[in-house]
Amino acid sequence: MTEYPQPAVAVIVVAAGSGSRLGRDRPKAFVPLHGRSILEHALTGVFGLTEPAQVIVVAPAAELADARAIAERVAGGAAGYLDVVAGGDTRQASVARGLALVRADVTVVLVHDAARALTPPALIDAVVAAVRTTGHGIVPGLPVVDTIKNVDQTGSILGTVDRSLLSAVQTPQGFPRAMLYAAFAWADALPATDAAARDLTDDAALVAAAGNPVSTIPGDPMAFKVTTAWDLRRAELLLGDGVVAPASADPRVGTGLDVHAFDDTSPLWLVGLHWPGERGLSGHSDGDAAVHAICDALLAAAGLGDVGQVFGTADPRLTDAHGAVFLTETLRLVTEAGYRVGNVTVQVIGNRPKLSPRRQEAQDLLAGILHAPVSVSATTTDALGFTGRGEGIAALATAVLYPSIRATLA
Ligand code: CTP
Ligand code: MG
Repeated sequence: MTEYPQPAVAVIVVAAGSGSRLGRDRPKAFVPLHGRSILEHALTGVFGLTEPAQVIVVAPAAELADARAIAERVAGGAAGYLDVVAGGDTRQASVARGLALVRADVTVVLVHDAARALTPPALIDAVVAAVRTTGHGIVPGLPVVDTIKNVDQTGSILGTVDRSLLSAVQTPQGFPRAMLYAAFAWADALPATDAAARDLTDDAALVAAAGNPVSTIPGDPMAFKVTTAWDLRRAELLLGDGVVAPASADPRVGTGLDVHAFDDTSPLWLVGLHWPGERGLSGHSDGDAAVHAICDALLAAAGLGDVGQVFGTADPRLTDAHGAVFLTETLRLVTEAGYRVGNVTVQVIGNRPKLSPRRQEAQDLLAGILHAPVSVSATTTDALGFTGRGEGIAALATAVLYPSIRATLA
């Protein structure tokens, strides 16, 4: 089994509400939006995070099987990071159910409404980054455009609120793990009569009420919440216009092949590892045919050309560069083009080195760089051809990518 890198981030996606204001016969997260459920759209954004994250879906008890099927479809190769759990009577109770499942290694916890179906992954990344740099709770917010009035029960105006001091906040809201846990524990310890602190509509309110700093960062108009039929219509129109790339679980596949000749004057670098005492491979970089094949497969799946075109042998930064340099840059390009890696396989074809003793080490290294499972295998060619004659090594890779949500309207 490949050891997944342990995620430092958890995203709790609350989807356990009934959606009474939307007024459909199924809970809101399961209502169709442009051919897929609201939950599927939301999770496509969440799994577009650039670093591996534990994703905890909190769903209505009666919908757990469906929620799991949807989440596993979106998670693809990252299903190892997924949990699905039944929610509670209030949003806050649902968040608490999710919090109970956060893994030990996680240091930053995000809470996100499934109802914000079109939230771009870049906003989720920005919240994680801001939690780390400030150590605060972080909430995305947008300026309020309408003039806001205080009114009494009869509708009479009591005054005008200074809107320059207002922010309309969204999710995901992010917190240092310990801060969020302490805030929930604080609310739990309140007397039962203090009902207000037990049913807050966002996590920032709870964390602030418990005495912690919470700051805003710029939100994103695409992170609006589907609450009413009008919101659902707006989301449909945005997807129909292609303003947002539709959430799609359809994978894209790519293959890559690379060959390098043995060169006795070089050390051997293969599948990202150094192999002392083995014959090296020729090449402008370190000649790691397996890593180059993986890059070709990733670039092909994303429709971005090939290694020669993207890196070029003229680039002095690549002289003797090792696999991590190529893989990190390729992953950046693929992510920027709107994809996340599902999984990668690479097969090394040659007589030497014997790969199996270091297969796990190679898989862990490559999976850690690509934030996705990587399988490494090897074969000989029964003494036939250039690999059989011991003239060099070939490697063949396959990569699967999934599209992330992309907003094309700045
Ligand atoms: N939520 C939840 N558990 C609850 C209530 C709400 O997980 N007991 C989730 C919803 O599924 C939603 C998010 O919290 O993704 C924001 O809540 P809201 O938009 O109010 O959704 P609902 O409560 O489902 O809708 P309504 O208030 O119209 O009934
Ligand atoms: Mg509600």
